[in-house]
Parts: sequence; structure tokens; C-alpha cells
Amino acid sequence: MMIQKILPPKNEEYLTLAIETSCDETSAAVVKNGKKVLSNIISSQIDIHKQYGGVVPEIASRHHLDNINVIVKEALDSAEAQFEDLDFIGVTSGPGLVGALLIGISTAKALSYALNIPLVGVHHIEGHICANYLEHSDLKPPFLSLVVSGGHTHIVDIHEELSYQVLGRTRDDAVGEAFDKVSRVLGLGYPGGPAIDKLSQWGDPNAVDFPRTYLEPDSFDFSFSGIKTAVLNYINSEKQKGNKIHSADVAASFQMAVIQVIVDKALTAAERMQRDTIVMAGGVAANSLLRKIMKEKCAEKRIRLYYPSLELCTDNAAMIGCAAYLNYMKGRIDWLDLDACPNLKL
Ligand code: KG4
Ligand code: ZN
Repeated sequence: MMIQKILPPKNEEYLTLAIETSCDETSAAVVKNGKKVLSNIISSQIDIHKQYGGVVPEIASRHHLDNINVIVKEALDSAEAQFEDLDFIGVTSGPGLVGALLIGISTAKALSYALNIPLVGVHHIEGHICANYLEHSDLKPPFLSLVVSGGHTHIVDIHEELSYQVLGRTRDDAVGEAFDKVSRVLGLGYPGGPAIDKLSQWGDPNAVDFPRTYLEPDSFDFSFSGIKTAVLNYINSEKQKGNKIHSADVAASFQMAVIQVIVDKALTAAERMQRDTIVMAGGVAANSLLRKIMKEKCAEKRIRLYYPSLELCTDNAAMIGCAAYLNYMKGRIDWLDLDACPNLKL
């Protein structure tokens, strides 16, 4: 194996090529000094996976493989950068779908080897949290982060940059997964989050009293499998009674039940850790009800609230570029034996 040389940057600016392929988005970005996004190309496979009602891992890998070189080239072109201008490569190394991760990692390793520049593996959740640094220049730890996505539901205390204390996580489904499953039951398609968010605006959030699962009184963990089953049971029992299902009411009631638990736990955690800043991250942070209630509650409690723009909430490589830069600055560099780690812990 080649021993990688760590070269000094060619100028005072560090230019990162970042790659993200952990699920169903093939994305590459060029980021300057971890903050300035020169390009962020995202090729979504949603239309392909839609017909199966969710992401099919093998199909996702194949599409990443077909797309990755084109997306990398597009990211460089749109940033008006050349391969020779790059100082290091950042890539998502986990968690995620192993076959999908491997496409990004293999590409990153090949580039690192060919260009003789360092490689930095990034934790996907760290990337989601770092998306906030790209848009909020005033944001600095300590803060509490609520990470809500299709694969993760975490409450994390960030005491200093890149130092994470996980206070709670889901014990079963991730919140985005619950949105996706309920959406499928309601026949709203994939991805379920945006569909339920939209339809809920026409529904009554108090129409159906779905369970709010708080677990033990002191716990910051989550569980969403119960509410998913409750929605299914409700629909089946209404159908058996010959009643019409009001999808908008079911969607709005499900959404309210889930969001209430998330908001309550995030605020209690902030109080417990004495944090005056909450940072939301991940695809579900795009949810309009979550944003609305968090804004109201945080204003009441004088807590500063940050979340990324819609494009940076869901998977993208720019957030990986930011996280890679912060790691690189701390001397955390990976070698060519970097491997995909589907269950990588934060
Ligand atoms: O962060 P992300 O792109 O991928 C993972 O890392 O998992 O999140 C995707 C998830 C999907 O489950 C999708 O349904 C959910 O985010 N999502 C939403 C909304 N937009 C995307 N959930 C609720 N409301 C939304 N507006
Ligand atoms: Zn994600």
C-alpha cells in the first residue's frame, strides 16, 4: 500500500472534494475552507426507488456506480476547479448501506491515490450536524443537536467541535422511516415525509389519538414502531367497520403525535444539559410542523434554534465537505484501508 504523503496546501485555502453515497443520493461537492460551498451536485434516485416503495440497496449501489464519475466531474466543473487544485478528499464512511458507501469510498480512495492527497472519512450524522455550520456562521458549540433522518433519530450534546455525547437514540425505527412506512400504508408513496407533511396541512391533528411513546421518564431514547402499528390497526379497524378513511386526518394526527414527542424530548434534554442552543439536522428537520413548533417553544424558553435550508437537510456532499475539513484541521486523516462501516457509531 502506498504511504500517503501529507502535503502542505498549495495556497492558503484548502479545497475539499466531498463525496456522499450512503443511501439513495449520489452527491459530490467542492468546498473551500470547510465553509464556502463552491458546488454541491445531488443526483437523487427517488424516482427509481419510488416504484418499489423504498430504497432497494442493490439498485442504489448500481446507480451510484453509474453516476459517481459524472457527478464528481460536474462538481469540479461547476466550482471551476481542476483535480490538481484539490487539497484533500472527504467521503462518508458510515453509517449507511454498505454497497452504496463502498462506491463513494472506492472513488475517494482512487482519487486520493492518483492525486496523492489525503483522505478523510466522515460519519454521516456528523455531516448532517455540520450542514448547519455552512449556513450559520455564528454557530459554535456548546449546543444540543436533534438529528432526525430516514436512518437516525438522535439527541446529541456537542460540548465542543467534533465531540459528541449521544443522550438518546431510537430503539427501533428512525423517525423518517416511520413517516415513510405510514405514507406507504396511506398510499402516499416514497419518500413519505414530504407527502405526509403536505397532506397534513389539510387534516385535523386531533382527529385520531395516536399513542405518544415517551419510554422511561428520564430517557431521551425514542421508539416509533408502536405508532406505526397503531396507524395500521386504526386503518384496518375503520375499514372493517365500513368507515371511510380520512387520509389527511390520519396523516396530521400521526405527524402531531411523533413531532410532539421529539420536541418534548429535545427541549427537556436542552434543559438537562443547560444548553441555550438547539441545532436540528437530517431530512426530517425539513418538516414544517417540527420547524413551527420548535420555533414557538424555543422562543418561549429563549433557546436559539438553528436548522439548515431544505437542500442541506437531506443528504448532500457539501455537509460532508464541512465535516471533513474540521476533522482534517484536527489532524484526523484516513489511509487507503478506509472501509465502509454500515453501523459506524458517532
Ligand atoms: O437525511 P436524509 O436525506 O437521509 C438519511 O440520512 O436517512 O433523510 C431522509 C428522510 C426520509 O425518511 C424522508 O421521508 C424524510 O427524511 N423527510 C421528511 C421531510 N422531508 C424529508 N420527513 C418529514 N417531513 C418532511 N418534510
Ligand atoms: Zn442522511
